[in-house]
Amino acid sequence: MSTLTNKTALVTGASAGIGRATAEALSKAGAKVVLAARRRDRLEAAAAACGDTEVVQLDVRDAAAVERALGARTFDIVVANAGLGRGVDKIHEGDPADWAEMLDTNVKGLLHVVRHTLPSMVRAGRGDLVVLGSVAGRQVYPGGNVYCASKHAVRALYEAMRLDAAGKGVRFTTVDPGMVETEFSLVRFRGDTEKASDVYAGMTPLSPADVADAILYALTRPAHVNIGEIVLWPTDQASTTTVRRDG
Ligand SMILES: NC(=O)c1ccc[n+]([C@@H]2O[C@H](COP(=O)([O-])OP(=O)(O)OC[C@H]3O[C@@H](n4cnc5c(N)ncnc54)[C@H](OP(=O)(O)O)[C@@H]3O)[C@@H](O)[C@H]2O)c1
Repeated sequence: MSTLTNKTALVTGASAGIGRATAEALSKAGAKVVLAARRRDRLEAAAAACGDTEVVQLDVRDAAAVERALGARTFDIVVANAGLGRGVDKIHEGDPADWAEMLDTNVKGLLHVVRHTLPSMVRAGRGDLVVLGSVAGRQVYPGGNVYCASKHAVRALYEAMRLDAAGKGVRFTTVDPGMVETEFSLVRFRGDTEKASDVYAGMTPLSPADVADAILYALTRPAHVNIGEIVLWPTDQASTTTVRRDG
């Protein structure tokens, strides 16, 4: 197993949930971690739990800001994790503003980050690019419409990057979790704590640390081994629509 000493890692969406846990895990493994997200106070709190870190306040939807913040830098590892869901409305009742926010963040935001970090990895002939997909990128569920479409797009982009950068020495990984207890549902239901906690009622979801552990596994394989796809489910979840719950 290789450790991450002397590596610089960018983690987007590092102010909460999976991104924050990943920043901590990579930092513990010896990487210098650059934590990026919009909320500076939350980034600073996350950075305090890590060792050698830097904080970058960044909205991944803003292509020019991403270019300014990342374009001239080089990273050994990029974990493109920033993302969100908004609502679970049926598609014929959905709010186009919610759709735009999900697509702008999950798809275009990912593209902005990739466009300004992958070129230097290709030039260097090495690097790791990890995307946070989801089981929602493999299965659709009622009310998941545009969020699921955005995660299907993430999966397509993961496959596209593998092909376009084939032979350039860069490893690509998509990490696709089922239900993880983070702020995801709170954001999805716009701060409605009851609706958010109902999502995980009576079942044991994954923790952000479980997902961070999977990411670390992929990153610490020997250089000739590329863990391409990791799908992690809570044991209580058999599909996006089948969850075992107490009571
Ligand atoms: N939780 C789950 O069940 C689950 C399952 C599968 C996949 N995922 C995926 O995992 C990733 C992380 O989600 P999470 O569960 O950890 O949710 P979370 O706790 O809500 O964290 C989301 C992170 O993304 C950041 N973010 C959102 N919009 C952003 C933007 N425009 N620019 C920069 N950063 C932005 C947030 O930071 P700021 O608000 O400070 O910007 C936050 O740090 C997402 O891609 C999500 O789709 C989650």
